[in-house]
Amino acid sequence: MKIKKRGEFIYFNKKAYDVLKNYLLHKVDSIKNIFILVDDITHAHCLPILFQNINFLKKSNVIKIKSGEEEKNINTCIQICKNLEKFKATRKSLIINLGGGVITDIGGFVASIFKRGIRFINIPTTLLGMVDAAIGYKTGVNLNYIKNEIGSFYIPEFLIIDTHFLRTLPNKEIVSGMAEMLKHGLIASQNFWEQMIQIQTDIMIQNENKWMNLIHQSILIKQNIVNQDPKEEGLRKILNFGHTIGHALESYFMNINKILHGIAVIMGMIYESWISCKINGLSISDYKEIKSILSTLCPIENKISGLEIKKLLFIMEHDKKNEKNKIQFSLLKEIGKCSYNCQVPSSLIKESFLN
Ligand SMILES: NC(=O)c1ccc[n+]([C@@H]2O[C@H](COP(=O)([O-])OP(=O)(O)OC[C@H]3O[C@@H](n4cnc5c(N)ncnc54)[C@H](O)[C@@H]3O)[C@@H](O)[C@H]2O)c1
Ligand SMILES: [Zn+2]
Repeated sequence: MKIKKRGEFIYFNKKAYDVLKNYLLHKVDSIKNIFILVDDITHAHCLPILFQNINFLKKSNVIKIKSGEEEKNINTCIQICKNLEKFKATRKSLIINLGGGVITDIGGFVASIFKRGIRFINIPTTLLGMVDAAIGYKTGVNLNYIKNEIGSFYIPEFLIIDTHFLRTLPNKEIVSGMAEMLKHGLIASQNFWEQMIQIQTDIMIQNENKWMNLIHQSILIKQNIVNQDPKEEGLRKILNFGHTIGHALESYFMNINKILHGIAVIMGMIYESWISCKINGLSISDYKEIKSILSTLCPIENKISGLEIKKLLFIMEHDKKNEKNKIQFSLLKEIGKCSYNCQVPSSLIKESFLN
Protein backbone atom coordinates (compact mmCIF):
# COMPACT_ATOMS: atom_id res chain seq x y z
CA MET A 1 0.00 0.00 0.00
CA LYS A 2 1.41 3.37 -0.99
CA ILE A 3 1.17 5.83 1.85
CA LYS A 4 1.45 9.54 1.29
CA LYS A 5 4.04 11.30 3.42
CA ARG A 6 3.09 12.74 6.79
CA GLY A 7 1.21 16.01 6.59
CA GLU A 8 1.07 15.89 2.81
CA PHE A 9 -2.63 15.50 2.41
CA ILE A 10 -4.43 17.21 5.28
CA TYR A 11 -5.52 20.80 4.83
CA PHE A 12 -6.91 23.15 7.44
CA ASN A 13 -9.71 25.73 7.57
CA LYS A 14 -9.75 28.46 4.88
CA LYS A 15 -6.81 27.15 2.83
CA ALA A 16 -8.48 23.76 2.72
CA TYR A 17 -11.42 25.08 0.73
CA ASP A 18 -9.08 26.60 -1.86
CA VAL A 19 -7.39 23.22 -2.26
CA LEU A 20 -10.74 21.45 -2.50
CA LYS A 21 -12.15 23.95 -4.99
CA ASN A 22 -9.08 23.68 -7.16
CA TYR A 23 -9.19 19.89 -7.03
CA LEU A 24 -12.88 19.74 -7.93
CA LEU A 25 -12.45 22.16 -10.82
CA HIS A 26 -9.43 20.41 -12.31
CA LYS A 27 -9.67 16.76 -11.33
CA VAL A 28 -13.37 15.99 -11.69
CA ASP A 29 -14.84 16.13 -15.18
CA SER A 30 -18.40 17.09 -14.25
CA ILE A 31 -20.31 18.36 -11.22
CA LYS A 32 -22.65 15.39 -11.77
CA ASN A 33 -19.74 13.15 -10.84
CA ILE A 34 -19.49 14.55 -7.31
CA PHE A 35 -21.44 12.82 -4.54
CA ILE A 36 -21.64 14.23 -1.02
CA LEU A 37 -22.49 11.70 1.71
CA VAL A 38 -24.15 13.16 4.82
CA ASP A 39 -26.33 11.99 7.69
CA ASP A 40 -29.49 13.88 8.61
CA ILE A 41 -27.66 15.93 11.26
CA THR A 42 -24.65 16.88 9.14
CA HIS A 43 -27.11 17.63 6.33
CA ALA A 44 -28.67 20.28 8.58
CA HIS A 45 -25.55 21.64 10.29
CA CYS A 46 -22.55 21.02 8.04
CA LEU A 47 -23.71 20.95 4.42
CA PRO A 48 -24.67 24.67 4.50
CA ILE A 49 -21.11 25.50 5.69
CA LEU A 50 -19.61 23.48 2.84
CA PHE A 51 -21.93 25.19 0.33
CA GLN A 52 -21.06 28.62 1.78
CA ASN A 53 -17.41 27.90 1.06
CA ILE A 54 -17.86 26.25 -2.33
CA ASN A 55 -21.05 27.49 -3.88
CA PHE A 56 -21.02 25.35 -7.02
CA LEU A 57 -21.24 22.18 -4.89
CA LYS A 58 -24.95 22.96 -4.51
CA LYS A 59 -25.31 21.41 -7.97
CA SER A 60 -23.66 18.12 -6.93
CA ASN A 61 -25.52 15.00 -5.79
CA VAL A 62 -26.23 14.68 -2.08
CA ILE A 63 -26.82 11.25 -0.56
CA LYS A 64 -28.35 11.38 2.91
CA ILE A 65 -28.56 8.55 5.44
CA LYS A 66 -29.92 8.48 9.01
CA SER A 67 -27.48 9.42 11.73
CA GLY A 68 -26.21 6.86 14.24
CA GLU A 69 -23.98 3.82 14.70
CA GLU A 70 -26.97 1.54 13.89
CA GLU A 71 -26.76 2.74 10.28
CA LYS A 72 -23.16 1.53 9.96
CA ASN A 73 -24.02 -1.74 8.24
CA ILE A 74 -23.85 -3.40 4.85
CA ASN A 75 -27.49 -2.59 4.00
CA THR A 76 -26.74 1.13 4.19
CA CYS A 77 -23.78 0.56 1.84
CA ILE A 78 -26.04 -1.21 -0.65
CA GLN A 79 -28.51 1.70 -0.48
CA ILE A 80 -25.68 4.16 -1.14
CA CYS A 81 -24.41 2.06 -4.08
CA LYS A 82 -27.93 1.98 -5.52
CA ASN A 83 -28.09 5.76 -5.24
CA LEU A 84 -24.71 6.11 -6.94
CA GLU A 85 -25.98 3.93 -9.73
CA LYS A 86 -29.26 5.82 -10.01
CA PHE A 87 -27.33 9.08 -10.44
CA LYS A 88 -25.08 7.43 -13.01
CA ALA A 89 -21.84 7.46 -11.03
CA THR A 90 -18.84 6.27 -13.03
CA ARG A 91 -15.34 5.07 -12.15
CA LYS A 92 -14.33 8.73 -12.31
CA SER A 93 -16.83 9.78 -9.66
CA LEU A 94 -15.81 11.20 -6.32
CA ILE A 95 -17.43 10.78 -2.91
CA ILE A 96 -17.07 13.56 -0.35
CA ASN A 97 -17.75 12.22 3.15
CA LEU A 98 -19.16 15.02 5.28
CA GLY A 99 -19.79 13.76 8.80
CA GLY A 100 -18.49 11.98 11.86
CA GLY A 101 -16.73 8.64 12.04
CA VAL A 102 -19.84 6.76 10.95
CA ILE A 103 -20.01 8.68 7.67
CA THR A 104 -16.25 8.53 6.95
CA ASP A 105 -16.17 4.78 7.75
CA ILE A 106 -19.19 3.98 5.55
CA GLY A 107 -18.33 6.40 2.75
CA GLY A 108 -14.72 5.25 2.61
CA PHE A 109 -15.83 1.64 2.45
CA VAL A 110 -18.36 2.29 -0.32
CA ALA A 111 -15.69 4.20 -2.26
CA SER A 112 -13.37 1.20 -1.92
CA ILE A 113 -15.89 -1.28 -3.41
CA PHE A 114 -18.07 0.68 -5.85
CA LYS A 115 -16.93 -0.24 -9.38
CA ARG A 116 -13.85 -1.76 -7.69
CA GLY A 117 -12.88 1.54 -6.16
CA ILE A 118 -13.53 5.23 -6.76
CA ARG A 119 -11.93 8.33 -5.23
CA PHE A 120 -13.04 9.89 -1.96
CA ILE A 121 -12.32 12.88 0.26
CA ASN A 122 -12.94 13.02 4.01
CA ILE A 123 -14.36 16.10 5.68
CA PRO A 124 -14.78 14.99 9.31
CA THR A 125 -17.26 17.07 11.30
CA THR A 126 -16.86 15.58 14.80
CA LEU A 127 -13.81 15.97 17.00
CA LEU A 128 -13.41 12.19 17.08
CA GLY A 129 -13.65 12.10 13.31
CA MET A 130 -10.96 14.78 12.94
CA VAL A 131 -8.39 13.29 15.28
CA ASP A 132 -9.14 9.61 14.86
CA ALA A 133 -11.75 8.03 12.57
CA ALA A 134 -10.92 9.90 9.37
CA ILE A 135 -7.18 9.35 9.82
CA GLY A 136 -5.43 6.07 9.14
CA TYR A 137 -6.99 4.49 6.04
CA LYS A 138 -9.35 2.09 7.87
CA THR A 139 -12.90 1.96 6.51
CA GLY A 140 -15.70 -0.40 7.35
CA VAL A 141 -19.08 -1.34 8.72
CA ASN A 142 -20.45 -3.53 11.52
CA LEU A 143 -21.94 -6.97 11.03
CA ASN A 144 -24.38 -8.56 13.50
CA TYR A 145 -23.23 -6.21 16.26
CA ILE A 146 -19.56 -7.04 15.64
CA LYS A 147 -17.82 -3.71 15.16
CA ASN A 148 -16.00 -3.10 11.89
CA GLU A 149 -16.26 -6.75 10.88
CA ILE A 150 -16.35 -5.87 7.16
CA GLY A 151 -13.97 -3.28 5.82
CA SER A 152 -10.92 -2.31 3.87
CA PHE A 153 -7.80 -0.19 4.02
CA TYR A 154 -8.38 2.59 1.50
CA ILE A 155 -6.65 5.92 1.00
CA PRO A 156 -8.57 9.19 0.53
CA GLU A 157 -7.42 11.83 -1.93
CA PHE A 158 -7.00 14.18 1.02
CA LEU A 159 -8.66 15.42 4.17
CA ILE A 160 -10.13 18.74 5.15
CA ILE A 161 -10.23 19.87 8.76
CA ASP A 162 -12.55 22.78 9.46
CA THR A 163 -13.01 23.49 13.17
CA HIS A 164 -16.10 25.61 12.44
CA PHE A 165 -18.07 22.39 12.24
CA LEU A 166 -17.40 21.79 15.95
CA ARG A 167 -19.57 24.75 16.97
CA THR A 168 -22.74 22.67 16.75
CA LEU A 169 -21.29 19.49 18.22
CA PRO A 170 -22.86 18.43 21.56
CA ASN A 171 -20.50 18.49 24.54
CA LYS A 172 -20.60 14.72 25.08
CA GLU A 173 -19.26 14.27 21.54
CA ILE A 174 -16.46 16.73 22.33
CA VAL A 175 -15.52 14.62 25.37
CA SER A 176 -15.48 11.56 23.13
CA GLY A 177 -12.93 13.18 20.82
CA MET A 178 -10.91 14.49 23.75
CA ALA A 179 -10.52 10.95 25.07
CA GLU A 180 -8.64 9.97 21.91
CA MET A 181 -6.57 13.17 21.98
CA LEU A 182 -5.52 12.50 25.58
CA LYS A 183 -4.69 8.94 24.52
CA HIS A 184 -2.40 10.29 21.80
CA GLY A 185 -0.51 12.23 24.47
CA LEU A 186 -0.28 9.26 26.82
CA ILE A 187 1.06 6.84 24.19
CA ALA A 188 3.37 9.13 22.23
CA SER A 189 3.99 12.62 23.59
CA GLN A 190 4.27 13.84 27.15
CA ASN A 191 4.44 17.39 25.83
CA PHE A 192 1.08 16.99 24.07
CA TRP A 193 -0.46 15.40 27.20
CA GLU A 194 0.61 18.43 29.22
CA GLN A 195 -0.94 20.83 26.71
CA MET A 196 -4.15 18.81 26.67
CA ILE A 197 -4.63 18.72 30.42
CA GLN A 198 -4.56 22.50 30.56
CA ILE A 199 -7.57 22.88 28.32
CA GLN A 200 -11.19 22.39 29.22
CA THR A 201 -14.06 21.44 26.98
CA ASP A 202 -16.07 24.56 27.76
CA ILE A 203 -13.46 26.93 26.34
CA MET A 204 -13.57 25.14 23.01
CA ILE A 205 -15.79 27.70 21.36
CA GLN A 206 -13.99 30.80 22.67
CA ASN A 207 -10.55 29.52 21.82
CA GLU A 208 -10.75 28.07 18.36
CA ASN A 209 -7.13 28.77 17.43
CA LYS A 210 -5.83 26.94 20.46
CA TRP A 211 -8.02 23.97 19.59
CA MET A 212 -7.01 24.05 15.96
CA ASN A 213 -3.42 23.73 17.09
CA LEU A 214 -4.18 20.82 19.45
CA ILE A 215 -6.21 19.03 16.79
CA HIS A 216 -3.35 19.47 14.33
CA GLN A 217 -0.81 18.00 16.78
CA SER A 218 -3.12 15.12 17.62
CA ILE A 219 -3.57 14.27 13.93
CA LEU A 220 0.20 14.33 13.39
CA ILE A 221 0.71 11.90 16.27
CA LYS A 222 -1.77 9.41 14.83
CA GLN A 223 -0.53 9.88 11.26
CA ASN A 224 3.05 9.34 12.32
CA ILE A 225 2.19 6.05 14.04
CA VAL A 226 -0.03 4.84 11.18
CA ASN A 227 2.53 5.67 8.51
CA GLN A 228 5.13 3.53 10.26
CA ASP A 229 2.75 0.56 10.44
CA PRO A 230 -0.34 1.03 8.22
CA LYS A 231 -1.68 -2.53 8.56
CA GLU A 232 -1.39 -2.76 12.36
CA GLU A 233 1.25 -5.46 12.45
CA GLY A 234 3.18 -3.89 15.33
CA LEU A 235 3.55 -0.28 16.44
CA ARG A 236 0.04 0.81 15.37
CA LYS A 237 -1.29 -1.39 18.19
CA ILE A 238 -0.33 1.31 20.70
CA LEU A 239 -3.38 3.23 19.45
CA ASN A 240 -5.40 0.52 21.20
CA PHE A 241 -4.27 1.70 24.64
CA GLY A 242 -7.40 1.93 26.84
CA HIS A 243 -9.40 0.06 24.22
CA THR A 244 -9.01 -3.57 25.38
CA ILE A 245 -11.00 -2.87 28.53
CA GLY A 246 -12.76 0.10 26.88
CA HIS A 247 -14.28 -2.05 24.11
CA ALA A 248 -15.40 -4.67 26.64
CA LEU A 249 -17.16 -1.97 28.69
CA GLU A 250 -18.75 -0.54 25.53
CA SER A 251 -20.05 -3.95 24.43
CA TYR A 252 -21.23 -4.91 27.92
CA PHE A 253 -23.11 -1.68 28.53
CA MET A 254 -24.54 -1.60 24.98
CA ASN A 255 -27.54 -3.68 26.11
CA ILE A 256 -27.95 -2.16 29.57
CA ASN A 257 -27.28 1.55 29.56
CA LYS A 258 -25.43 2.56 26.44
CA ILE A 259 -22.17 4.45 27.07
CA LEU A 260 -20.29 6.53 24.53
CA HIS A 261 -17.10 5.10 23.03
CA GLY A 262 -15.08 8.01 24.46
CA ILE A 263 -16.36 7.42 27.99
CA ALA A 264 -15.59 3.69 27.72
CA VAL A 265 -12.07 4.55 26.52
CA ILE A 266 -11.51 6.99 29.39
CA MET A 267 -12.48 4.29 31.89
CA GLY A 268 -10.39 1.75 29.98
CA MET A 269 -7.36 4.07 30.11
CA ILE A 270 -7.72 4.44 33.91
CA TYR A 271 -7.84 0.65 34.45
CA GLU A 272 -5.08 -0.06 31.92
CA SER A 273 -2.86 2.61 33.50
CA TRP A 274 -3.21 0.79 36.81
CA ILE A 275 -2.16 -2.46 35.09
CA SER A 276 0.72 -0.55 33.43
CA CYS A 277 1.82 0.55 36.88
CA LYS A 278 1.75 -3.04 38.17
CA ILE A 279 3.63 -4.76 35.34
CA ASN A 280 4.99 -2.29 32.79
CA GLY A 281 7.04 0.15 34.80
CA LEU A 282 4.62 3.11 34.85
CA SER A 283 5.42 5.11 37.99
CA ILE A 284 2.84 5.52 40.74
CA SER A 285 2.99 9.29 40.39
CA ASP A 286 2.26 9.08 36.62
CA TYR A 287 -0.62 6.70 37.36
CA LYS A 288 -2.07 9.06 39.96
CA GLU A 289 -1.82 12.02 37.57
CA ILE A 290 -3.54 10.08 34.76
CA LYS A 291 -6.30 8.84 37.06
CA SER A 292 -6.98 12.27 38.51
CA ILE A 293 -7.17 13.98 35.08
CA LEU A 294 -9.27 11.30 33.40
CA SER A 295 -11.64 10.99 36.37
CA THR A 296 -12.63 14.64 36.02
CA LEU A 297 -13.85 13.91 32.47
CA CYS A 298 -15.65 10.77 33.53
CA PRO A 299 -16.13 10.17 37.23
CA ILE A 300 -16.43 6.44 37.92
CA GLU A 301 -19.32 6.56 40.35
CA ASN A 302 -20.12 2.92 40.89
CA LYS A 303 -17.54 0.23 41.27
CA ILE A 304 -17.94 -2.62 38.80
CA SER A 305 -19.44 -5.68 40.53
CA GLY A 306 -17.92 -9.17 40.65
CA LEU A 307 -20.50 -10.53 38.23
CA GLU A 308 -19.90 -7.69 35.80
CA ILE A 309 -16.14 -8.28 35.95
CA LYS A 310 -16.71 -11.93 34.95
CA LYS A 311 -18.78 -10.87 31.95
CA LEU A 312 -16.23 -8.23 30.94
CA LEU A 313 -13.45 -10.83 31.03
CA PHE A 314 -15.56 -13.14 28.87
CA ILE A 315 -15.94 -10.37 26.28
CA MET A 316 -12.20 -9.63 26.34
CA GLU A 317 -11.36 -13.31 25.89
CA HIS A 318 -13.43 -13.30 22.67
CA ASP A 319 -12.03 -10.06 21.23
CA LYS A 320 -11.03 -10.32 17.56
CA LYS A 321 -7.72 -8.58 18.32
CA ASN A 322 -6.55 -11.50 20.52
CA GLU A 323 -3.61 -13.56 19.32
CA LYS A 324 -2.95 -17.19 20.23
CA ASN A 325 -6.04 -17.06 22.48
CA LYS A 326 -4.41 -14.42 24.65
CA ILE A 327 -5.90 -11.02 25.44
CA GLN A 328 -3.49 -8.41 24.09
CA PHE A 329 -2.88 -5.12 25.87
CA SER A 330 -0.98 -1.97 24.98
CA LEU A 331 0.45 -0.63 28.22
CA LEU A 332 2.19 2.59 29.23
CA LYS A 333 5.84 2.63 30.26
CA GLU A 334 5.63 6.29 31.18
CA ILE A 335 3.50 9.24 30.05
CA GLY A 336 4.34 9.48 26.33
CA LYS A 337 5.70 5.93 25.92
CA CYS A 338 3.71 2.77 25.26
CA SER A 339 4.44 -0.95 24.70
CA TYR A 340 2.27 -3.36 22.73
CA ASN A 341 1.57 -7.13 22.69
CA CYS A 342 1.55 -7.24 26.49
CA GLN A 343 -0.06 -10.24 28.13
CA VAL A 344 -1.82 -9.65 31.42
CA PRO A 345 -2.96 -12.38 33.84
CA SER A 346 -6.75 -12.45 34.32
CA SER A 347 -6.28 -11.96 38.05
CA LEU A 348 -4.63 -8.58 37.41
CA ILE A 349 -7.34 -7.49 34.95
CA LYS A 350 -9.94 -8.33 37.63
CA GLU A 351 -8.01 -6.44 40.29
CA SER A 352 -7.74 -3.34 38.07
CA PHE A 353 -11.51 -2.84 38.33
CA LEU A 354 -11.34 -2.78 42.12
CA ASN A 355 -8.94 0.18 42.34
N1 LIG B 1 -11.73 4.13 10.87
C1 LIG B 1 -11.14 4.34 12.02
O1 LIG B 1 -9.91 4.25 12.14
C2 LIG B 1 -11.97 4.70 13.21
C3 LIG B 1 -11.34 5.16 14.39
C4 LIG B 1 -12.15 5.55 15.45
C5 LIG B 1 -13.52 5.46 15.36
N2 LIG B 1 -14.09 5.00 14.20
C6 LIG B 1 -15.56 4.90 14.08
O2 LIG B 1 -16.12 6.19 14.18
C7 LIG B 1 -17.45 6.08 14.66
C8 LIG B 1 -17.68 7.11 15.73
O3 LIG B 1 -17.48 8.39 15.19
P1 LIG B 1 -18.23 9.68 15.77
O4 LIG B 1 -18.06 9.73 17.23
O5 LIG B 1 -17.82 10.83 14.94
O6 LIG B 1 -19.75 9.28 15.55
P2 LIG B 1 -20.91 9.79 14.55
O7 LIG B 1 -20.46 9.85 13.17
O8 LIG B 1 -22.08 8.92 14.85
O9 LIG B 1 -21.19 11.26 15.08
C9 LIG B 1 -21.74 11.47 16.37
C10 LIG B 1 -23.03 12.29 16.29
O10 LIG B 1 -22.71 13.64 15.98
C11 LIG B 1 -23.49 14.10 14.86
N3 LIG B 1 -22.71 15.14 14.21
C12 LIG B 1 -21.68 14.98 13.34
N4 LIG B 1 -21.12 16.18 13.06
C13 LIG B 1 -21.82 17.10 13.75
C14 LIG B 1 -21.71 18.51 13.88
N5 LIG B 1 -20.73 19.20 13.29
N6 LIG B 1 -22.61 19.15 14.68
C15 LIG B 1 -23.56 18.46 15.35
N7 LIG B 1 -23.70 17.12 15.28
C16 LIG B 1 -22.84 16.45 14.48
C17 LIG B 1 -23.74 12.85 14.06
O11 LIG B 1 -24.86 12.99 13.22
C18 LIG B 1 -23.97 11.82 15.18
O12 LIG B 1 -25.29 11.93 15.66
C19 LIG B 1 -17.61 4.65 15.15
O13 LIG B 1 -18.39 3.93 14.24
C20 LIG B 1 -16.20 4.12 15.20
O14 LIG B 1 -16.14 2.72 14.97
C21 LIG B 1 -13.34 4.64 13.14
ZN1 LIG C 1 -11.29 4.84 20.15
